[in-house]
Amino acid sequence: MGRESLTITDNRTGKTYELPIEHGTIRAPELRQIKTGPDDFGLMTYDPAFLNTAACKSRVTFIDGDKGILRYRGYPIEQLAERSTYIETAYLLVKGELPKPSHLKAFIHNITHHTIIHENIKKFIDGFHYDAHPMGIMVGTVGALSTFYSDAKRIFDPESRRIQTHRLVAKMPTLAAFAYRHSIGMPYAYPDNELSYTGNFLNMLFKMTELKYKPNPVLERAIDVLFILHADHEQNCSTNTVRSVGSSHVDPFSAVAAACATQYGPLHGGANEAAIRMLMEIGSVEKIPDYIKRVKAGEVRLQGFGHRIYKNYDPRAKIIKKVAEQVFEVTGRSPLLDVALELERIALADDYFISHRLYPNVDFYSGIIYQAMGFPMDMFPVLFAIPRTAGWLAQWSEMLLDEDQKIARPRQIYLGPGERDYVPVAERSE
Ligand code: CMC
Repeated sequence: MGRESLTITDNRTGKTYELPIEHGTIRAPELRQIKTGPDDFGLMTYDPAFLNTAACKSRVTFIDGDKGILRYRGYPIEQLAERSTYIETAYLLVKGELPKPSHLKAFIHNITHHTIIHENIKKFIDGFHYDAHPMGIMVGTVGALSTFYSDAKRIFDPESRRIQTHRLVAKMPTLAAFAYRHSIGMPYAYPDNELSYTGNFLNMLFKMTELKYKPNPVLERAIDVLFILHADHEQNCSTNTVRSVGSSHVDPFSAVAAACATQYGPLHGGANEAAIRMLMEIGSVEKIPDYIKRVKAGEVRLQGFGHRIYKNYDPRAKIIKKVAEQVFEVTGRSPLLDVALELERIALADDYFISHRLYPNVDFYSGIIYQAMGFPMDMFPVLFAIPRTAGWLAQWSEMLLDEDQKIARPRQIYLGPGERDYVPVAERSE
């Protein structure tokens, strides 16, 4: 084994540089010493969309996309989905270790007792247009929470970070349920402290006139598993946003609101809606071969397939497929499931998908489940934002305490005009 370093020869000058390699990376600022002369700024890297740039060191989530591995704090996602709960997984993400029994009890108590939102937030939600998109309401109200908790600005106070974490994890389902009820013109249902995190979420969404809402245990557990699967996914678009906005040292409510905004975008939080729409467009198993032909001709993409990181079966999709069967025993089988299963079977045996390493991702089956449970498609990104809050907060704290981090500020390659003189409007020709 040779030295842990990289030797670069600059062919413009003939000079050679040796840069240290640490954790399989070189530090981009090291390249600045590579100059053609004293006035040269030094070499930079050009990496739009961070295709090959590590922007942080993290101890939260590990993904091996080639092997289809996902672990939170070292624990395989399969074990967490099988044996943990979302609340315990949220604790694991934000604190770094699985809780002792007494700590879990205290955490559940703290989350349960922070679910109520200030009445003025309710009035704030009332102010949204009658058919406002629930994700738009989330972006606005999560940001507005920062004006209710001025102590949240004390981001370097561990006690303040702890309380804001409880508030955010606890209030996201309440805001989401209220946003949903507002968008369909229903009165808000208040949290029920006797129910579990997901049982209470179902209560706030679907309670009608009954005095006490009783969640269906299969659906309650299914949402819990889906929440575990969505709790973190290392440096994706929203997590990068929470870190970047948080690097300005703003309060966590504002940083999480920005992360919610990224999930409002169809490329991040909207892929399961696109997958449902595609399955509805295909409509029946007989029409699948024609659709596959269109995909291979480059006319359309197979929604819910392919991933920037996973070049193997997304481990979350495997778990979701099992959850779907359990949910359909309660809700009745969605006709779209047969189309999805056959589509997957055909695609996984087809050369195009094999050679492009395209496998189902988390969004291929999640939309079918949510739809069967009675969620409108507008709620899909909201259902992603609730559990991801734990991951965002874990990554936000990690960023704040990391001595390598500074305010995020990328470089650019300027290709605009050189210096030119201002001409008053009257002297400009039409
Ligand atoms: N259907 C057909 N062809 C595809 C697909 C697809 N879904 N995805 C990628 N390809 C092809 C693409 O045409 C290209 O082919 P070629 O090299 O011959 O030109 C090759 O695969 C590489 O594609 P890419 O766009 O460079 O890959 P990417 O890593 O930038 O894209 C992706 C990743 C997820 C945006 C893409 O696979 C896609 O658009 N999938 C459908 C949408 C979707 O399911 N999104 C949800 C992602 S999971 C969200 C999460 O993890 O939270």
